Amino acid sequence: MSTQAAKSTAVLITGASSGIGLALAQYYVNKGFAVIACGRNAKALQSIIGATPLSFDITDNAQVKAAAEQLSQLLRQHDWKLQQVILNAGSCEYIDNALRFDSALFARVINTNVVAMGYCLEHFLPLVGQGGQLGLMSSSATYIPFPRAEAYGASKAAISYLGRSLRVDLAQHDIGVSVICPGFVKTPLTDKNDFAMPMQISAQQAAVAIFKGMQTQRKEIHFPGKFTWLLKLASLLPESLLVSLLAKK
Ligand SMILES: NC(=O)c1ccc[n+]([C@@H]2O[C@H](COP(=O)([O-])OP(=O)(O)OC[C@H]3O[C@@H](n4cnc5c(N)ncnc54)[C@H](OP(=O)(O)O)[C@@H]3O)[C@@H](O)[C@H]2O)c1
Repeated sequence: MSTQAAKSTAVLITGASSGIGLALAQYYVNKGFAVIACGRNAKALQSIIGATPLSFDITDNAQVKAAAEQLSQLLRQHDWKLQQVILNAGSCEYIDNALRFDSALFARVINTNVVAMGYCLEHFLPLVGQGGQLGLMSSSATYIPFPRAEAYGASKAAISYLGRSLRVDLAQHDIGVSVICPGFVKTPLTDKNDFAMPMQISAQQAAVAIFKGMQTQRKEIHFPGKFTWLLKLASLLPESLLVSLLAKK
């Protein structure tokens, strides 16, 4: 796409105040796109030079609705076409003791990662033009059952299915869907992890991979390849072998 064409093409990115979303917003701005950068942290959004900040909490349906109304006005005012929506915002919490299952934690993670994605789809999808592309942030954690990931992994598995199902229904409207499955990316979210994160990449590397995948309308954007292909291979192992490899000894 030429820089001139990119200028009138708007991209909405949730979770743009930090980590992958922040790097992605900066990358799209540098490529000349009109970027609507979303998150709760208004100050962090304002620091993305060249982007339009839109601050709201994705878990509050009324706030998402109001944000979509503001977005609609912005699109009209600047004569922008909303061609990409990247629903990237999310959180991660681990179940430390499966025997004392923390249902409040489970509900929190599912609410932020899945239910809130429903609010964003409800209000932003009607604004996406024909030929548009939707990006849903899942995770390569969905390929195999990681320990302590009952809440996070389940939320991301739901997103992967949601993306595949939406792809079927949105095909007739000429809107594509990319399910995004990163391996480990260095961000404030993974900085909290207390375990080894093999083949971890930077948020900037993740941004390049996502950008390329969105431009080429890939159905599944997974990276870094060596890591995600290993996980895909591992997913072919018998479940009992996987359990014995992954379970705490
Ligand atoms: N890092 C990895 O290795 C990795 C791997 C696979 C998938 N992912 C996924 O990639 C996405 C981004 O993760 P990250 O690593 O970049 O994490 P991060 O640095 O913690 O960023 C998370 C983003 O989500 C936003 N967010 C969270 N709750 C929100 C809410 N209620 N309302 C609005 N925005 C909210 C945050 O914005 P505010 O705080 O400003 O609201 C922030 O911008 C997540 O969905 C994560 O699950 C990450």
